[in-house]
Amino acid sequence: MSGADAIAGKRIVLGVSGSIASYKAADIASKLMQAGALVDVVLTRSAQEFITSLTFRSLTHRLVITDLFDANSEDPLEHVEIARQADAIVIAPATANVMAKLTHGLADDALSTIVLASEAPVLIAPAMEHHMWANTATQVNVATLKERGFNFAGPNEGRLASGAVGSGRLVETAEILEALGEILAANQDLAGRHIVVSAGGTQEPIDPVRVVTNRSSGKQGYAFAEAARDRGARVTLVTAASLANPAGIKVVKVESARQMLAAVSDALNDAADALVMAAAVADWEPISAAGQKMKKVEGQDRLTIEMQKTPDILAQVSGLPGIKVGFAAETEDLLNNARAKLEGKKLDMIVANDVSATDAGFAVDTNRVVILDKSGGQEDLPLMSKREVADTVLDRVCGLFSG
Ligand code: C5P
Repeated sequence: MSGADAIAGKRIVLGVSGSIASYKAADIASKLMQAGALVDVVLTRSAQEFITSLTFRSLTHRLVITDLFDANSEDPLEHVEIARQADAIVIAPATANVMAKLTHGLADDALSTIVLASEAPVLIAPAMEHHMWANTATQVNVATLKERGFNFAGPNEGRLASGAVGSGRLVETAEILEALGEILAANQDLAGRHIVVSAGGTQEPIDPVRVVTNRSSGKQGYAFAEAARDRGARVTLVTAASLANPAGIKVVKVESARQMLAAVSDALNDAADALVMAAAVADWEPISAAGQKMKKVEGQDRLTIEMQKTPDILAQVSGLPGIKVGFAAETEDLLNNARAKLEGKKLDMIVANDVSATDAGFAVDTNRVVILDKSGGQEDLPLMSKREVADTVLDRVCGLFSG
């Protein structure tokens, strides 16, 4: 995939800080739009002295973020959502002040907060007076940021706004797009693959208003779907969770285990390369759901609902296309139980986690897992974000594709 192709369909946060070069960010926003990106512009307070939010709103057709506490914003946690959804953050122009804030992890305005809250790659295009660029404080900050994986474009040598000639000029828009395209294309090892992911806890109906369900949040499954998408895969997410639909992913909403079996089977038959079965599928379903809401009956203190086993989705789809990755959420004897499931359900790999730990498993954003594979391999991973777990497991899936 070329760099330019990699920008199409991506969510890019464009952070603009206050420099005489701020006006050039309008061209960057426009070119990103032309390349097919969805652009969220974030202006620092000083950027707004040089250029208005109206310019960017007109170019991107989207609200522009100018304040961490925007009274007009519908969602008070908007910046967290934007940080989570971003495929990349571009800061152009980046002042010495913004880079100093990022180096120290400050989060005192919308832009610095979004960068701190995001796991997306960051591209910084500095622009400033050449003494500020050459200053040891700035150079030490740049070195620290580079060490932490921040990417830089420029600055270039040339005539600066002060009239002096030196290093500090914002690079041309084309160079920023090229650098961004390379960053986005760097990890496209799932390009051309169809990855099916299931997520959330299924709901088995008791009557039209009541269900049997579990505490799964769906977060780990969504992290898998987003990670696979960002690595270039076509993704079908079969979900019983009620989280927001991620961009660029085909979402199939289901409720029960039976509906999930049908949707997963359909998706696998659509030339799937892998299934990551992160859903917490109910093991039992009421034998027959009541047609009407069940009423309380005077004098009745107990209710017995007869349940039967749900279909085991993984076991049933073992003959369909794709590498199969299952999950084992256990509260005891983790490894033995997980290995038994790996073999019983004929999986290629199983991701085992102890859901009794408070920092792993349901609802939280972190997970500590062990990956077991069918050739007897075992890999104990440290505490990670759910996104990191997803990327590590997808690395192993890629290993199976090439092996
Ligand atoms: O047997 P257990 O429910 O512990 O197995 C967990 C794994 O099996 C998970 O990957 C889950 O999504 C999957 N599963 C399934 N169908 C079921 C129950 C669980 O595919 N009915």
